[in-house]
Amino acid sequence: MRFDVFTLFPEIFSGYLTQSLLKLALDRRLVEIHLWDFRDWAEGKHQQVDDRPYGGGPGMVLMPGPITAAVEAIRPQHPEPGEVLLLSPAGERLTQPLVRELHSKKRLLLLCGRYEGFDERVRLALDARPISVGDFVCNGGEVPAMTVIDTVVRYVPGVLGDEDSLAEESHNDPGRLEYPQYTRPREFRGMPVPDILLSGDHAAVARWRAEQSELRSRPPQRKVEP
Ligand SMILES: C[S@@+](CC[C@H](N)C(=O)[O-])C[C@H]1O[C@@H](n2cnc3c(N)ncnc32)[C@H](O)[C@@H]1O
Repeated sequence: MRFDVFTLFPEIFSGYLTQSLLKLALDRRLVEIHLWDFRDWAEGKHQQVDDRPYGGGPGMVLMPGPITAAVEAIRPQHPEPGEVLLLSPAGERLTQPLVRELHSKKRLLLLCGRYEGFDERVRLALDARPISVGDFVCNGGEVPAMTVIDTVVRYVPGVLGDEDSLAEESHNDPGRLEYPQYTRPREFRGMPVPDILLSGDHAAVARWRAEQSELRSRPPQRKVEP
């Protein structure tokens, strides 16, 4: 699977791409991640990429020219056109079903905003799909883009050491959370591991886990005012 990430700050990704599962996935060529700097498509001596908003207001807005030029130059580099995702707090919420849908795409082009975000015509000109990682505002689209990559690559065969991990995970079924996990030591600060997990009775363990998963997945009880 191929990711093309467009950002004003490619260096932000360097730690993320050189550690742990992502590093292994890149080394084994299971995924390709290309970083592109919008500023390379900016015109003029100052390579300007942002300007003040029409209508007034605070901050700066990313200009449509350099952003669309960057994507239109890079997209034809590969026969698979992929889908353009525009990171935005106003976008469609990233959920596990959406992650699974995105994994089927073969190629994703991720646009990371900064400042007040993108001129609206970027979305229209590139037919980009706005995606939000949650109902909060980050300083830029880089961490949201890493979130998209981190969640989608888990479905690329060979990326996870044990693909059974995917089967029982939280949110696999909407709203369903995984059971609690324990490892050594058998007792920690007076808290023992539940006896059932030490019993060797696989059917009983599976029943206990199903019950625990059910309990955890219930919506939190509302506080009743006295
Ligand atoms: C400071 S934010 C801009 C927020 C924008 N003025 C608004 O109120 O919607 C700068 C950039 O961070 C990214 N970003 C911030 N929060 C995000 C979120 N929850 N999901 C996805 N991207 C986000 C977007 O790319 C956005 O263009």
